[in-house]
Amino acid sequence: MEIQLWREILMPYDVAVKELVHKFEHLMHEYRSRGMYSPIEQVCGRVKTISSILEKAQKKKISVDEIEDHLLDIAGVRIICQFVEDIEKVVELIRNRTDMEVVSEKDYINHMKDSGYRSYHIIVNYKVQMLTGEREVKVEIQVRTLAMNFWATIEHSLQYKYKKNIPDHIKEKLSNAAEAIIVLDNEMSSVRSEIMDAQNSLQIQSNLVSDILNTIQNLYRLANKREILKIQDEFYRIYELNDIEKLQRFGRELDIIAEGYRAQLLDPDI
Ligand code: GTP
Ligand code: MG
Repeated sequence: MEIQLWREILMPYDVAVKELVHKFEHLMHEYRSRGMYSPIEQVCGRVKTISSILEKAQKKKISVDEIEDHLLDIAGVRIICQFVEDIEKVVELIRNRTDMEVVSEKDYINHMKDSGYRSYHIIVNYKVQMLTGEREVKVEIQVRTLAMNFWATIEHSLQYKYKKNIPDHIKEKLSNAAEAIIVLDNEMSSVRSEIMDAQNSLQIQSNLVSDILNTIQNLYRLANKREILKIQDEFYRIYELNDIEKLQRFGRELDIIAEGYRAQLLDPDI
């Protein structure tokens, strides 16, 4: 058997987790900057510690040499959604990507585990570029709602506390809580469109304000100061009206003004 240089073995997994977290976070920002609802609410990831890798290998009777082929969750990424409906969207998004290949899927959303655990699991092959060349690693992506994540986090701590032998009366409480999570997620789904509308208009307003302020900032170099002050005062006045349509109209008018200045700048006769 070769010497196991764990830090080196785990390096490509670390790169994979960092890249994937970044990519999913980027998608979330892309949705939002386009004024769209993002099915991704939070992303996090981790590389399993050496001690829990060894512990799991021992439990599953996997020899140290077989670990990389048989432990599929050395690299783990978790995607948290607001609503159950978002999970399918995220899964579809992952299936359609060309930078990762789906190896297997487990649907614990429609097939809850006996413990009460719910989540959608996808194992993907993902390529990273290391100094030594390309390496393909397996990554476990877990997709779940905020409520499911709450349950899994608490249950995981209890498993840890009771060393995986949770007493029956606590198991029963967890099972009841899991049922309550299903009800909670369903209730939330029934007001999903209203929540999405509210969040969307907040996002649209925030994008709009940032666009307007950018344009004013750019005008600062082109127009005279008195005019800019007038425009700025007008912006504050409209902003305080709390009327998104008025703000949108102001934004469009401002764009026309800015366009005019830009045209003047390009016209050699002026
Ligand atoms: P593991 O040996 O636990 O990895 O099981 P597996 O290889 O059959 O895969 P499975 O899809 O069942 O579980 C993978 C991961 O899902 C685990 O490492 C946990 O992070 C999570 N998970 C699975 N079951 C439970 C559960 O009952 N409670 C909690 N809190 N997490 C779970
Ligand atoms: Mg596993």
